[in-house]
Amino acid sequence: MEDNRVLTLNEVVIQMQSAFPYAKGELSRLLMHIGLAAKIVHNQVNKAGLVNILGDAKSTNIQGESQQKLDVYADNVFRKAMQASGIICGIASEENDEIIIFDDDLSLDGNYVLCIDPLDGSSNIDVNVSIGTIFSIYHRLSPNGTKAQLCDFLQPGTEQVAAGYIIYGSSTMMVYTTGLGATGFTYDAAIGEFCLSNDHVVTPEDGRIYSVNEGNYIRFPRGVKRYIKYCQEDDKATNRPYTSRYIGSLVADFHRNLIKGGIYMYPTTASNPNGKLRLLYECNPIAFIAEQAGGKATDGNGNRILEIKPTDLHQRVPFFVGSKNMVDKAEEFMKEFSEEE
Ligand code: AHG
Ligand code: MN
Ligand code: MN
Repeated sequence: MEDNRVLTLNEVVIQMQSAFPYAKGELSRLLMHIGLAAKIVHNQVNKAGLVNILGDAKSTNIQGESQQKLDVYADNVFRKAMQASGIICGIASEENDEIIIFDDDLSLDGNYVLCIDPLDGSSNIDVNVSIGTIFSIYHRLSPNGTKAQLCDFLQPGTEQVAAGYIIYGSSTMMVYTTGLGATGFTYDAAIGEFCLSNDHVVTPEDGRIYSVNEGNYIRFPRGVKRYIKYCQEDDKATNRPYTSRYIGSLVADFHRNLIKGGIYMYPTTASNPNGKLRLLYECNPIAFIAEQAGGKATDGNGNRILEIKPTDLHQRVPFFVGSKNMVDKAEEFMKEFSEEE
């Protein structure tokens, strides 16, 4: 008989926990709290056109970008959910210059820290285009029972215990990994549950989509320019020309390429000499998911994103992520043409 049973996020994380008999269930509880916060943000995102939530919150974050109201709202929702969990001792968020330390008794005993981009793709809020949330979880390094410290957050991505994203798109989805593959859930608003929809996400080794902001073309490194031309050339054997897709929300661009096969690039430019995307709460979690799905993530210069040792909370890195063979090809061009510069 066909098995039509719906598995919810909470059921799946509990099953996952039973695979680790000595685990205390903390990570499972944490993922459930993230799921709850995601539902609250989902509701607000869906109401964005109806309530007075659009527009600027009249404040700027450390990078001088204007914060939209929904960014601030999402930041608050996730912060409160994390503090309520009692498992998290501190947060690094795109929306806060410094780390947020939870110093209530319960949180001081929390074993984990969270890095988060509460609202990714914020320029798309006002125009009804997909946006997201990206998160990354580490074991703290500072002693349990004390306040979280900066060193807890400046760990390489290889140390991530779990990571994931939520995409508020044509449907709301959560994709996460704890290092045992990537799993996807689709939100069913009628029953208020994230339902298992992508049991084991595997990204194609080859793809036909390239995603990059071509408005920056003349400021790209030569290797990227040559790779873009390669994507546009005719070649039946390799199925070129490829197709170009760029939403301007990392989560949405990455998610589409993950499912269909493709490459996302945010290289260095003159105005962003280190790239634009942030290592801790954008690149590392996305790179972890990509690798767990069989893809690849580098800085375009042969360095695996997950092995970069962070030095700064809001550090930026050039980002090349997606189907393995496409990232390898882009790297080849970067290597060949950087030597000419
Ligand atoms: P955020 O909204 O969290 O600041 O992130 C925006 C990021 C990312 O989502 C997206 O891929 C990129 O900025 C787009 O940048 P450009 O507009 O420069 O292409
Ligand atoms: Mn972002
Ligand atoms: Mn953001």
